[in-house]
Amino acid sequence: MRVCRWPSDVCHSVLAACVVILLSTLGHGAFAQGAPNFEKVQGPDECAECHKKETENWKDTHHYKTFSSLPRSDDAKKITDALGLKRIKSESVCLSCHFTSQVRKGKPKPVAGITCESCHSAGADWMKRHSEFSGKKKETESEAEAQQRWADAEASGMIRPHMVYELTKNCYSCHIVPQEELVNKGGHTAGSKFELVSWSQGEIRHNTWHNGGKENPEASTERKRLMYAVGIAVELEEALRAVGKSTAPARYAVAMAKRAHAARKKLREAAKTLPMPEFMEMLRAAHSANLKLNNGPALEAAADRVAAAAKQLASSHDGTELAAMDNLLPGPDQYKGKPSQ
Ligand code: HEC
Ligand code: HEC
Ligand code: HEC
Ligand code: HEC
Repeated sequence: MRVCRWPSDVCHSVLAACVVILLSTLGHGAFAQGAPNFEKVQGPDECAECHKKETENWKDTHHYKTFSSLPRSDDAKKITDALGLKRIKSESVCLSCHFTSQVRKGKPKPVAGITCESCHSAGADWMKRHSEFSGKKKETESEAEAQQRWADAEASGMIRPHMVYELTKNCYSCHIVPQEELVNKGGHTAGSKFELVSWSQGEIRHNTWHNGGKENPEASTERKRLMYAVGIAVELEEALRAVGKSTAPARYAVAMAKRAHAARKKLREAAKTLPMPEFMEMLRAAHSANLKLNNGPALEAAADRVAAAAKQLASSHDGTELAAMDNLLPGPDQYKGKPSQ
């Protein structure tokens, strides 16, 4: 079977063979993708006031280090040169995925790498509320008050660990790079070989709050099953959207078409193992649009259907009934980086 569903001329054409004039849209966009709203970012030092252990863990990650390593990297310079950009930290196209910005002198300024708020969302509207025990002490806050407090924090945008779909979408807002010119002209990777369980349980892991920082255990098996299922669904959703943004027969289009094709295959495998109605709907949706150039509206519609089924899956399962998927779960040898203890 052919890996690529594109006409073979598209499959075989690579960057060098293409002379395509692309309109420049880079460098002008606001902080759309990836970045938390800079006007509402509190900064990692604020979170560190209370979350000391999580902050220590974070300082051991690529997410923290990219702030100082990226501007010094030769690979980064090649990309900015190819795109005609002058400085990484003042060009918004890099900022949105590699840095966190805050307002300084009325303008966005990068203050750190990929921070707490890149994943849990900018804190201005929820930071106080989530932590204040409704103005009481932990012991005296009623169950109803605590529930209301968390509901308010979520309504104000906080992304909490139990919100598996939202968390995963957020990882993908950076780990897939649906920017054709950045890839084709800049030579940037089209995205990471991302898989939610293995990428969240290695160096990123910081399950150190609710146990007082005594240990940093893996997510439970039930949770890993759910993460795996939601992860492959969001992979498919985002890959379809990314193919929908392809206009030129070059590296970007080929990488994204392969990615979407692989995601469908992975989902088929999971559906064979566990034929859940949500998986079946995702597969039907994914095959409702062709993986071809300039097919944005059809692919977006298909991705919306996958998203609806993924949300349904995330909100109606806690993983206990997904045991059939255990043999698909990546093991510790596949975790990305080492968790700090
Ligand atoms: C004033 C102290 C304080 C600050 C500052 C603070 N937190 Fe918290 N955080 C808490 C407390 C207390 C809890 C647990 C509340 C509970 O158990 O009901 C918590 C819980 C959390 C949780 C876990 C939620 C869950 O569903 O289990 C996350 C995630 C979190 N905080 C992120 C952040 C981020 C990100 C920041 C910075 C923007 C931040 N916190 C700033 C005190 C704080
Ligand atoms: C849509 C999000 C996104 C945007 C925009 C983006 N990057 Fe990246 N970049 C990533 C991700 C994700 C990785 C990690 C890829 C991997 O897992 O291999 C990465 C990796 C890199 C790397 C290799 C790792 C390293 O730190 O040396 C370089 C260099 C790089 N990016 C430079 C840039 C530059 C320069 C820009 C702006 C012109 C930019 N990126 C814009 C998401 C993005
Ligand atoms: C790369 C995205 C990412 C970053 C960066 C990040 N978190 Fe998290 N956070 C998560 C995920 C995902 C979970 C749930 C992990 C799991 O279930 O294994 C989580 C869980 C938590 C929890 C609950 C831990 C527990 O004991 O159950 C707290 C508290 C928290 N994060 C706070 C923070 C703080 C504070 C920072 C910054 C120092 C931060 N996070 C940075 C993604 C992130
Ligand atoms: C704001 C953008 C952004 C978000 C959100 C984000 N990442 Fe990342 N992540 C990056 C970039 C950029 C890199 C590459 C940094 C570098 O090496 O310079 C990276 C690197 C990583 C690495 C290290 C990869 C390696 O090569 O070793 C892991 C693991 C990772 N991310 C996991 C996650 C997970 C899990 C989530 C969601 C819970 C997440 N990331 C959310 C942008 C992001």
